[in-house]
Amino acid sequence: MRKQIAAANWKMNLNLSEAKNLVNEIISSSYGLNNDQIVLIAVPFPYLIEIQHLLKGNSHFNVCAQNCASTCNGAYTGEVSAKMLNELNVNYVIIGHSERRLLYHEDNKTLAQKVDLALENKLTPIFCCGEALETRDDENQNNFVENQLKESLFHLSAEHFSKIVIAYEPIWAIGTGKTASSDQAQEMHKHLRKVIEGKYGVAISESTSILYGGSVKASNAKEIFSKADVDGGLVGGASLIANEFIAIINSLK
Ligand code: 13P
Repeated sequence: MRKQIAAANWKMNLNLSEAKNLVNEIISSSYGLNNDQIVLIAVPFPYLIEIQHLLKGNSHFNVCAQNCASTCNGAYTGEVSAKMLNELNVNYVIIGHSERRLLYHEDNKTLAQKVDLALENKLTPIFCCGEALETRDDENQNNFVENQLKESLFHLSAEHFSKIVIAYEPIWAIGTGKTASSDQAQEMHKHLRKVIEGKYGVAISESTSILYGGSVKASNAKEIFSKADVDGGLVGGASLIANEFIAIINSLK
């Protein structure tokens, strides 16, 4: 069975003591999670070790980095390599978030390099994709998102691709309070699973976790996660509020 994942993306928010309090509150709640359900908390780089320490011994919870460099090492001031993350025993990294694509001009080719380096360094990439509003208005969202996968992931061997987690995050739903309907999410996830099947076959396609992101909150998580091809969520704003994120974790199917 494919993994069900509730992933928090804190982005550049919280001071360290707020971050620790939030995590302590989240892990003090009790969950009936099974072996196929995991919770990821994507924190700013400087908090990785402290938060990882707090999560120790909690087998369902893991820290996640929000980005990694597209190069191995060298004169790249301010960058953090996949190898450095691996040395900290970090196991997950978000790659290709729309904020990185838009604000830092990361294109599909650069993201392919990041994916390669993440996999080489034993990190699981949470690969983000998603269309802007104009693309959806033009009804071109399926081609657009499919192309993001093709250009950044489809050079991978089947073995490597099977380690990828996909997060579909329509840009128009991020931080806007406007969520894709559960049917819109399901339609895209089903499409992506079909595209993956065409390239890698049904077994890999059926075992790839595809998360939905974009204004997920306690009040809509259950409905969105109930869809057949939605395997959990990547959550921004609501993951900064303990009770919201606890309810989202409890909405995994
Ligand atoms: P919001 O949940 O705040 O819309 O953010 C979604 C997101 O970008 C998660 O990566």
